[in-house]
Amino acid sequence: MTAPVYLDWNATAPLRAEAARAVSEALARTGNPSSVHRWGRVARQSLERARTQVAALVGAAPSNLIFTSGGTEANRLALFAASGRRILVSAIEHDSVRETVTEAEIIPVTPEGTVDVRALEALLAADTRPAFVSVMLANNETGAIQPVQAAAALAHRRGALFHCDAIQAAGKIAVDVEALGADFLALSAHKLGGPQGVGALVLREGVTLAAQQRGGGQERGYRAGTENVPGIVGFGVAAELATRGLASYAATAALRDLAQDRLSEIAPEARVFAAEVGRLPNTLCIAMPGVPASTQVMALDLAGVMVSAGAACSSGKVRPSRVLAAMGASPEEAASAIRISLGWSTTSTDIDRLVEAWGALYRRSRADAA
Ligand SMILES: Cc1ncc(COP(=O)(O)O)c(C=O)c1O
Repeated sequence: MTAPVYLDWNATAPLRAEAARAVSEALARTGNPSSVHRWGRVARQSLERARTQVAALVGAAPSNLIFTSGGTEANRLALFAASGRRILVSAIEHDSVRETVTEAEIIPVTPEGTVDVRALEALLAADTRPAFVSVMLANNETGAIQPVQAAAALAHRRGALFHCDAIQAAGKIAVDVEALGADFLALSAHKLGGPQGVGALVLREGVTLAAQQRGGGQERGYRAGTENVPGIVGFGVAAELATRGLASYAATAALRDLAQDRLSEIAPEARVFAAEVGRLPNTLCIAMPGVPASTQVMALDLAGVMVSAGAACSSGKVRPSRVLAAMGASPEEAASAIRISLGWSTTSTDIDRLVEAWGALYRRSRADAA
């Protein structure tokens, strides 16, 4: 039997072998990082080493990084610092942002899926109350890279705080928290080859938070609870490998472009979302007109190729994509879009398998329609 082809890396990346090893070694050690004895000190050392490794991925000082239970918690922790402020979030933010601040004002995006900075400027100028702005670095569905530096500079000129969800971008493109100018930057281990259920929030020097979980004072008092040392150690190792492996994404981009060209050749009417703007090197969001995304996902799965229909959601249900709707896609177009996301171990044979299965479905659907 041929091995399945995994093209859903934006949902989760495979755990890197080195990270898996580090996790299992840490699981075998006893020691609470808050204990002062030798085993406690060993746990503390491994925790702080991981903090340095993850901070280095985004050019941050380790002392400004707080570990969390994942990207969702990191986003939420940042958003609670917005209390009492006017909140503006982009139309394409992940549910972990949108569902945390349901009353937020929405910053529109262009048809190519990038935040409309002029609209943000107008929104900020229209109301001078202190604000909190949230714009992600790269979208999880389309891969579109956002004008975060410009949006953060604008926010700061107006006295606003700025949060950036860098969860999909980190490890795929170079990220520098200082250069971006974010006050808060959220990361998640499992998107870059670390374990699931571990994340981090990076704070700009001097920026403070409102603790959401109180107790033993861990993580500078911002996030109480004994740290998930094995998970965090795995995150550290994965982050270090991701930092070293950034250059390899040029080859991933070439494979993504190959997939895009070949699928577009099969179905010239297929829309590729965010094709005209800078995208993550691994992401391709494409709509096969008239064929529901769920049908495509199932047909590809039967052929051994795993992709997703827009954003994966916990219920396994496929909802029409809010992101594609914000880009002006019609409900039919949004409902026929799938997300293909590649990673460091994707090969040209994987792309052949994708193209073959997608092409067969396309031909069947056109024959049925005729
Ligand atoms: C852009 C973005 N933000 C936040 C999250 C949530 O991260 P986690 O799964 O670690 O909670 C995800 C994961 O799908 C994501 O893609």
